[in-house]
Amino acid sequence: MKNGMISLPDGRAVEVRPCTTGDLEQILLLERDCFGPDAWSREFIMQILPVGLFLGLFCGGEMAGYGVLTIRRGTLHIDNLAVKSAYRRMHLGSHLLEVMLWIGRKNSCQDALLQVETNNRSALSLYEKFGFQKVRKLKHYYHRHGQPAGDAWEMGKVLDQD
Ligand SMILES: CC(C)(COP(=O)(O)OP(=O)(O)OC[C@H]1O[C@@H](n2cnc3c(N)ncnc32)[C@H](O)[C@@H]1OP(=O)(O)O)[C@@H](O)C(=O)NCCC(=O)NCCS
Repeated sequence: MKNGMISLPDGRAVEVRPCTTGDLEQILLLERDCFGPDAWSREFIMQILPVGLFLGLFCGGEMAGYGVLTIRRGTLHIDNLAVKSAYRRMHLGSHLLEVMLWIGRKNSCQDALLQVETNNRSALSLYEKFGFQKVRKLKHYYHRHGQPAGDAWEMGKVLDQD
């Protein structure tokens, strides 16, 4: 896979690499930082670790962001993408998304699909910048405390093979 490096504005290097079970505590911290009460639980992460590819952004040993992808029937599914608050607006989310799309292309995926909460302006803006288009609205896609909460946009993008 592509192990891309990126530099922060202050010159520190950030590496992308697959996560291992040894990164679990950092993933949980990052989930809480990014999603608060909606953070994925340890149990849920353990359940999907074997089926998804977890990619972490690491800055001097600290996980600055991570993403999860799965490939099913020729479609790249972006299951999660998150950058720690302290590292936002420094193109790390863009970099990780680029790596994920690159992996999709390398695995001959025809398209990429994701879901994003309709009020998540920063993520919507990021995905639109990368050419994702709204496919359909998923009513009550998200749940909080067992109750239906936010709606999601399903967004898709055709992956050109280059
Ligand atoms: C969405 C998220 C991953 C973006 O990460 P990031 O590293 O800050 O994003 P980048 O610096 O690469 O920004 C790329 C583009 O995204 C958009 N964007 C990012 N943050 C934004 C914000 N706060 N407001 C508006 N647009 C924003 C912009 O279009 C930006 O392009 P620009 O820098 O040329 O303006 C990050 O805000 C995050 O982790 N949010 C919480 C978790 C989350 O909602 N994940 C998405 C789940 S579907």
